[in-house]
Amino acid sequence: MLIPGCGSGYEIRAFHDAGWDVAAIDFAPGAIERARAVLGPLASKVQMGDFFAPEFGGRFDLIYERTFLCALLPSRWSEYAGRMTELLSEGGRLAGVFVYGEASGGPPFPMPEGREKELFAEHFHLTRSEPLSPSLPVFEDMEERWQEWTRTS
Ligand SMILES: C[S@@+](CC[C@H](N)C(=O)[O-])C[C@H]1O[C@@H](n2cnc3c(N)ncnc32)[C@H](O)[C@@H]1O
Repeated sequence: MLIPGCGSGYEIRAFHDAGWDVAAIDFAPGAIERARAVLGPLASKVQMGDFFAPEFGGRFDLIYERTFLCALLPSRWSEYAGRMTELLSEGGRLAGVFVYGEASGGPPFPMPEGREKELFAEHFHLTRSEPLSPSLPVFEDMEERWQEWTRTS
C-alpha cells in the first residue's frame, strides 16, 4: 500500500503493524527527515520524491488519503485522479479522509460537493462513505468523510 504526501509519516507504523507492505512518499526534505527519525527500522519505507513524477511508479492494492488532496491546488486534482488510476491495481482501493466544503482561500482546499464524481466516476466506484467528527481546527466549517473508492477500470 502507498501513503502519498506522508508528511511525518505517523500512519506508516500503523499500516505496517496491520500487516501491510507500506511505501510512503513526500517531496519535502524536512518531512522525510522527521518521518525517518521516528520510524527507526521502518525508515526505509519512506522515499523522497514527487508523487506526480513519471519516475515514481508501482502498483498498489491500497492508497491512503489523508490531507494530501486538500493540500494540492484544485487545478491539480484531475492529475491526482489520473495518478491514482495508474498506481492502483484493478479492484484496488483509494481510501481515507476526504475534505468537503465550499471553495475558499486554502490550503486546505476542500472539495465542493459533486466534484468527486467528476474526478473519480470514470474509473472508480464509491464503496463506502461516512461522515467523521471534525479532527482538526483547520477543518472547521468543512466536512470530513471517510471514503473508499474502488478502482473498477
Ligand atoms: C498537509 S500535508 C499532509 C501530511 C500527512 N498526510 C498528514 O496527514 O499529516 C501534505 C503533504 O504532501 C506533501 N506533498 C505535496 N505535494 C506533493 C507531491 N507532489 N509529491 C510528494 N509529496 C507532496 C507535502 O510535502 C506535505 O508533507
